[in-house]
Amino acid sequence: MAAKRWPLAAACWFGLISWVLLGAMPAHAGEGAGIYAQHCMQCHGPNREGGIGPNLTGARWNKVEARKDSLAGFIAQGSSDGRMPGWSKRLTPKQIGAVADYLLTPPSKGGDQVLGSTSDPYPELKNFRLPVGFSIAVYSDKVPSARGMAVADSGIVYVASRTEGKVFALIDGSGRHAADKVVTVASGLDSPIGVTLLNGSLFVSERFRVSRFDDIANTYDKMPLMHVVKDDFPKDAWHGEKIIKAGPDGKLYIPIGAPCNSCNREQELHSKIHRMNPDGSQFEVYARGVRNSVGFAWHPLTQEFWFTDNGRDMLGDNMPSDKLNHAPKPGMHFGFPYCQGGVVPDPEFQAGRSCSEFTEPAAKLGPHVASLGLHFYTGQQFPAQYRNQLFIAEHGSWNRSQKIGYRVALITLYGDKVVSDTVFVDGFLQGDKVIGRPVDVAQLPDGSLLISDDFAGRVYRVSHAAPPPASPATQ
Ligand code: HEC
Repeated sequence: MAAKRWPLAAACWFGLISWVLLGAMPAHAGEGAGIYAQHCMQCHGPNREGGIGPNLTGARWNKVEARKDSLAGFIAQGSSDGRMPGWSKRLTPKQIGAVADYLLTPPSKGGDQVLGSTSDPYPELKNFRLPVGFSIAVYSDKVPSARGMAVADSGIVYVASRTEGKVFALIDGSGRHAADKVVTVASGLDSPIGVTLLNGSLFVSERFRVSRFDDIANTYDKMPLMHVVKDDFPKDAWHGEKIIKAGPDGKLYIPIGAPCNSCNREQELHSKIHRMNPDGSQFEVYARGVRNSVGFAWHPLTQEFWFTDNGRDMLGDNMPSDKLNHAPKPGMHFGFPYCQGGVVPDPEFQAGRSCSEFTEPAAKLGPHVASLGLHFYTGQQFPAQYRNQLFIAEHGSWNRSQKIGYRVALITLYGDKVVSDTVFVDGFLQGDKVIGRPVDVAQLPDGSLLISDDFAGRVYRVSHAAPPPASPATQ
């Protein structure tokens, strides 16, 4: 009996020792509190006061000694009866070390300020990186699968919620730069991802239909009547979801994506961007050769049309690139399905065609980054160098072996030429952990930026703290 048990005990000890050694590595301050809030609080209480599991304030330990190695060993292995789960498979040794450190710090008076509960509900935001002077905060965390956004002059933010089939209105009633009220404007919709404001009405795009809600400023909280504008869009499963944006010409722009990874639908409505009058009349093609666009914007000075387009899959991790396109006039062709990413002849559809026939992308944004919503900054809050520059939400790759995207990029333009493509908000991917997936970028009347995130079900607000420092020398 004893002989049989020995290998198991040895394995346990070996495991324990390696956990302890690794767990002794220095941990990021506050990390332990965050892990506690996420994994331990439900059994040991928000202030470690105990609940299903015992009190962990350190006044008295039953199973462990008040030392990091002892705590880390127990946390890794759990209790023999299984009531306290072992964490060695779900947390890294470093994380276990961090939470052990946290348990060894005495709780502060009047209750422990647990990160992740009351004092800081979003500890992961601390690891976000933005340029100096900028900060990011959660504007609302009550918007499941938050997609397209439209901001009214009043500051009300309309957000399409794809999986809920709803449109929400976010209201900052107290002026605290966060939505304290979330109102359902419409429900029962088929994968709505687009919202836009035009002539006092809110337009919403579903998979097959565009609808209008009139006098939205006064009706948003009274279940406004839905007027169908056009309901004969193709109901494709693949790339069937559509955004919608009102252009400066008073028309509604709407894409019909290719219903495939790559296919030739040149003779149909697919793989194009269309536009129409607000009543659905004069439906016409605006841009051709577009695989799947989920982002439109017009330059504030030139009023010209820019859009993102997502490249095809199955050509490998590193090609083709997603694109930023510039379509100053109707009728331009951007290459799909013949030419991918602006430079790669499509292996299936290139015959008799050449990439030089088509409009080149304004920028290649990277393979599989999934660039979606884009916004030209027009506010006064950010330093002057950001004005009329372009922010792009990169949803992030789903099938690339190493994840890419998961950020908001800043594209700097000189005239209509792209000068640079840099990271503006980073942190939606932390190590291998997905924190969020940016979808759309919009601007509040105070000049701060909003980012929707359909992974975490949040809308974030990016603000700039101080007025821009005076430039040292003027030339
Ligand atoms: C599902 C509920 C549950 C969760 C989740 C849980 N625990 Fe426990 N924990 C218990 C129970 C029950 C005990 C008592 C086990 C025993 O006495 O054998 C315990 C005991 C402990 C002890 C020993 C306390 C002592 O007095 O010796 C520590 C330390 C501990 N847990 C830490 C953690 C940490 C850290 C986490 C999160 C990573 C965690 N627990 C998550 C239920 C839980």
